[in-house]
Amino acid sequence: MPPRNDSHARNPMQAPTKPILFVEVQLTDKAATDPLVRSEAIRREISKYIADNFVQVQINQHLSTSFLMCGKYIRNCQIVDHSESISYADDGFYPLVDTDLQFSIYHLFNDEDELFASQPEGEESTSFKAMPLPHKALDGLWESLIFEEPIPESALRVIMSMLTISQQPLFDPTVLNWHNLALLYGPPGSGKTTLAKALAQRLSIRLSHIYPMAKLLEINSSTILSKWFGESSKQVGKLFKTITAISTDKSLLTVVIIDEVETLASSREKASQSDECGDAIRSTNELLQGLDRLCRCPNVMLICTSNLINSLDDAFVDRCTIQKFVATPNAKCSFEIFRSVINKLIDMNSVFFDSSDLEQDLMMENSDGCNYSQTSSLRSWNMESYDGALGPENASYSSTRLPSFEWVERNFANRDDTLLWEFRTLAINAAGLSGRALRRLPTLARFEYKPDKPCSLRDLLHALSKGIAEKHKNNNQDQHSTRTIKQKAKTIPKQEETSVDEFDETIWDDISVSP
Ligand SMILES: Nc1ncnc2c1ncn2[C@@H]1O[C@H](COP(=O)(O)OP(=O)(O)OP(=O)(O)O)[C@@H](O)[C@H]1O
Ligand SMILES: [Mg+2]
Repeated sequence: MPPRNDSHARNPMQAPTKPILFVEVQLTDKAATDPLVRSEAIRREISKYIADNFVQVQINQHLSTSFLMCGKYIRNCQIVDHSESISYADDGFYPLVDTDLQFSIYHLFNDEDELFASQPEGEESTSFKAMPLPHKALDGLWESLIFEEPIPESALRVIMSMLTISQQPLFDPTVLNWHNLALLYGPPGSGKTTLAKALAQRLSIRLSHIYPMAKLLEINSSTILSKWFGESSKQVGKLFKTITAISTDKSLLTVVIIDEVETLASSREKASQSDECGDAIRSTNELLQGLDRLCRCPNVMLICTSNLINSLDDAFVDRCTIQKFVATPNAKCSFEIFRSVINKLIDMNSVFFDSSDLEQDLMMENSDGCNYSQTSSLRSWNMESYDGALGPENASYSSTRLPSFEWVERNFANRDDTLLWEFRTLAINAAGLSGRALRRLPTLARFEYKPDKPCSLRDLLHALSKGIAEKHKNNNQDQHSTRTIKQKAKTIPKQEETSVDEFDETIWDDISVSP
């Protein structure tokens, strides 16, 4: 297996002299098992190819490497970032003169890979799951997430800087009061867990020049609390000892994800007021102490998620160096999430979409002068674009796919008689639903309203609009019954109240969603 890291990568301790262009090269599975494949040789060949053929490049640009000697070992080669890029949706060109290239050459592990994937024996093994990074199971997660704000990109940059700075010899976590700890919080189904995993994957790739190996530990908070009820604090202590032991290998980056962290870091103040058992208070204490000890492990990054931020202990929140609110998708994001799912259904031949429908719409608009510029622009969009989430090898250049929100706004503004404008209106109606619901609805609509029958895009949109209306109705009913339960809860004795308090999701009612 070729080494994941690139031996000629820049030393992270040296001050960079030039801006850096980040290039990611994903190897094929075959390359991973071929002892003759050398990362360094691949880096040299691609560097030369870029220098000989490009004057400037764009972020997110894919480089075709099939004709290179190393081409058969490469699944994807992409320019992913520039150290001086200020905008996250950066589509500017970067001249190669006076730029250093930094390569991340990697392959994806899978479950069969033995390499340091071993799960520790004993009780701890049920409290967390370990997997080597970057992993096939997490491939595509990063690209699948759609947010109004560039939350993933800004979190990635900050965490990368945190992990790089904590490597500095003079770095002192006590003086700087530094915890490699991030908290992603927000309403249910907004993509927090997916983002945490996607960040772990990206960190392992982008920091491979510092850490040649990386591992993900997913902590199962609810198992710790339920399986060892009464001794969960002991389990939390053990868990942190295991993490510290794993991180003694300084070439290994350990990313720890604690999902639903409120289970382990619940507010001690609230717990004592409600006479809750001491175990929860002790486990929060143990967690805080464990976090303080982990400060001395610069190669460990903890990413926690929660949708009950109000029930988190203040001392825990105070330790989170990064706190990011992950919002429910707005109208544009709803459109893009629907689009990615519907394009997948089109690729699978489950939905039939004939672009001639759209061309007719466009031609009707232009019937006076009959200018075909928009029609040809639609054709070229379909020919050139592909869904990034699928990866370039799956790019479907010939099939017709739905265009982006911007494209529809530009070409169909206020044309409510057209299919794409109808789709846009429908996405606006769906704003406020969770990312989870949005991702599920098109497939559900396809099979619920049109089982076993051919389904055109028009049919699907019709079914989808019913599905959206129904989902909103169910959500309203749920909220109503939650309020009723809470009102009833006020009349029941205090000890029983705590279980109802956990149900507090109405705090999200105030978050407005702008189209
Ligand atoms: N912004 C988004 N863009 C694309 N997909 C999303 C988004 N938000 C959620 N999803 C999808 O919804 C599903 C659930 O997401 P995830 O489990 O990450 O949400 P969560 O915030 O952790 O939810 P919970 O609070 O219930 O744990 C995933 O399949 C994810 O891809
Ligand atoms: Mg989650």
